[in-house]
Amino acid sequence: MIVTTAQLFQHAYGKYAVGAYNINNAEQAMGLFRGCIQSQAPFIIQLSKGARKYTDKKILEAIIRAAEQIFPEAIFAVHLDHGDEATCYDCINSGFYSSVMIDASHEPFDQNVAITKRVVEAAHKRGISVEAELGQLGGVEEDIKVEDGHATLTNPEEARKFIQLTGCDSLACAIGTSHGAFKFKGKQSLHFDVLKKIMALVPGFPLVMHGSSSVPKEEVDRINAAGGKIAGSMGVDVNEYLPAAKLGVTKINIDTDGRLVWTRVHREFFRDKPAEFDFRSPGKIFMEEYSKFIASRNQLLGSAGQIPDLRKSLGK
Ligand code: G3H
Ligand code: 13P
Ligand code: ZN
Repeated sequence: MIVTTAQLFQHAYGKYAVGAYNINNAEQAMGLFRGCIQSQAPFIIQLSKGARKYTDKKILEAIIRAAEQIFPEAIFAVHLDHGDEATCYDCINSGFYSSVMIDASHEPFDQNVAITKRVVEAAHKRGISVEAELGQLGGVEEDIKVEDGHATLTNPEEARKFIQLTGCDSLACAIGTSHGAFKFKGKQSLHFDVLKKIMALVPGFPLVMHGSSSVPKEEVDRINAAGGKIAGSMGVDVNEYLPAAKLGVTKINIDTDGRLVWTRVHREFFRDKPAEFDFRSPGKIFMEEYSKFIASRNQLLGSAGQIPDLRKSLGK
């Protein structure tokens, strides 16, 4: 069942974080739905601009609608990840999305406010909620690369002002994470001090954490042992997901870790079975492994086991 992002946030706020997972194809969708049913967790499916272009946005929409029928127990929202203004309007007008993200965080504050405000006005007319971003994460996201040293943490007072000026429904904050597989050279903690200040200024307002993959060392080691060349790096400490959720982080974005699962499965499969060429064989292993990965992440986010109570509170 597709619900609004607002409904998911209302249930989760302050207790657990809803996992937001990107999909690009049918295998990812199957693994995601299976993992969320196994762990009884509500979730958000995210489609990036790149995902919408990879095959065709209509294919993804059809996959999601089919999955909704195949897995009637699932409770989820559909979200545009890192949208620009034009893509936000396309998604708002399509009538398919529960929420959109307008990412104008690379613009100066006033410009970010102006763009976000326009998107909020258009979205709210259609009952769609808007995630905006303030502060800059490090790493690479599609066509934008933020060089080391240029990432800036969200200023709590600016966050309060930004939310008031734009009317956005949730805010992606930079609290020390970064996109992609190459996050931190050593162990690094989230900036809980910044998060606490933001929560104190905007109590009850849902915050979003991007760049939340953990880049598991075992996964990277297995990929490299099977011919990969992924430089060692550390990601977000998975034990910090729940403490962040208690401080208002209601949506946690995880994409890179799923790509690592895909890469490990396929590299190991073709290393061990060099004569194989039926892509369905590794595809089946990937769906199984991805579903296990999703279920394990939902345990750490605290979203596992929430479906029955959420269903009750939705009156369904
Ligand atoms: O933050 C970006 C997400 O990981 C999506 O990546 O834009 O390559 O689809 P993508
Ligand atoms: P990761 O690259 O850490 O998985 O972050 C994904 C993300 O923020 C998607 O918007
Ligand atoms: Zn992101």
